[in-house]
Amino acid sequence: MTKKTVTLTDANGKSAEFELLSGTHGPDCISISDLYKQTGYFTYDPGYGMTGSCKSSITFINGEEGILLHRGYPIDQLAEKSSYLEICYLLLNGELPSKAEFTEFSSTIKNHTMVHENIRDFINGFRYDAHPMAMLVGTVGALSSFYHDSLDINNPEHRVISAHRLIAKLPTIASYCYRHHRGLPFMYPDNDLSYVENFLQMMFAVPAQKYEQNPIAAKALEVMMILHADHEQNASTSTVRLAGSSGANPFASIAAGIASLWGPAHGGANEAVINMLDSIYNSGETIETTIARAKDKNDPFRLMGFGHRVYKNFDPRAQIIAKLCHELLDDLGGDQPMFKLALELEEATLKDEYFKERRLYPNVDFYSGIILRALDIPMNMFTVMFAMARTVGWISHWLEMNEDPEFRIGRPRQIYTGHAKRDYPS
Ligand code: CMC
Repeated sequence: MTKKTVTLTDANGKSAEFELLSGTHGPDCISISDLYKQTGYFTYDPGYGMTGSCKSSITFINGEEGILLHRGYPIDQLAEKSSYLEICYLLLNGELPSKAEFTEFSSTIKNHTMVHENIRDFINGFRYDAHPMAMLVGTVGALSSFYHDSLDINNPEHRVISAHRLIAKLPTIASYCYRHHRGLPFMYPDNDLSYVENFLQMMFAVPAQKYEQNPIAAKALEVMMILHADHEQNASTSTVRLAGSSGANPFASIAAGIASLWGPAHGGANEAVINMLDSIYNSGETIETTIARAKDKNDPFRLMGFGHRVYKNFDPRAQIIAKLCHELLDDLGGDQPMFKLALELEEATLKDEYFKERRLYPNVDFYSGIILRALDIPMNMFTVMFAMARTVGWISHWLEMNEDPEFRIGRPRQIYTGHAKRDYPS
């Protein structure tokens, strides 16, 4: 096959040729790793919206058409037919597991669900009113101090066992962050339960009483977890890769990803959506005034749960989750007025020129908060739930990066706009 290239010519007529790289799907990319050497220029791309930072075979997104594939499989098929643990296997290993492979994988994960007793003490050391995300970011980072036996990032077995530990322990740690906050005793994991049921048990059971699982709630949470499992090179995943690119251990790298997820423009959006809907509902503010505020450039308010860096069409996850909201709220009788309000808001934006022009559609987090609320998950745990589901995506990218022969430490450049060189006053 002939090599495809593009030629860049600057204002002085100096030209340089760059290779075009093609993936399985998606637009070609101009390979500029020798740009400076050839031309003496760097590129400027704030927010890296036009920059491919790596080659990856895990997830593909087509934002124009609203397509999301994990290892080639469309998200709607995975949400309908698969389980969260099977998705974990798929993301980590590249293929769906055989029955025997799945049995072995699920038993390995179950084997690692408990945490060291000192982790429980560690969580108990947080102030009673600490935000669960603050506890999560600290505790996941602290795991690095417990597993010296498997921190050699150059050892493939160490990398894999760390991945399994993270996936297995996240529900335990996430539930303990909540229990500490509420002053409830920590529940040990129960390995007879599924991954999702085990989390619900550790969240809501009390030692004095048998906990009854609700299969509808477990199914809804399972789908939520599948929809959040991975999403290509978003801010938190890129953070995990960047932190890990220096050779940092997987627990520290994932803690960095959790910190990045926390912000309201990323994983914190699900909490911000409910705050926004609550405030519209309780203040009696109309949908029209809310939309007007979102459009007003002098008001920092944005419609939370709308817009996406990549999707300029419906977020396919939002469509699945909206359907799930209908089913779940019918079954559990959850927060119907809030859901009704969300649907009205969505309908109004779809007719609004500002949102149409900018192609701002509801994203996954517009509806996920409504589901989490119907499952009785407290609002300050919403982003923790996202982190728990996304851990497999982060660690799959971390593993892929560590096996990539082209990987180097991440080091973007800048346009320096400070003072020109000057002398220290004598
Ligand atoms: N409400 C009102 N206006 C918006 C919104 C919004 N939610 N999102 C984007 N815009 C406008 C923005 O003001 C800009 O207008 P103009 O061209 O006139 O300056 C235009 O749309 C493009 O916005 P942008 O900020 O350049 O887009 P971005 O790709 O940098 O940001 C985003 C993407 C998701 C951060 C942004 O849409 C946003 O802040 N949304 C609300 C927060 C949210 O729901 N985040 C969850 C994202 S999905 C889950 C996840 O990844 O964690």
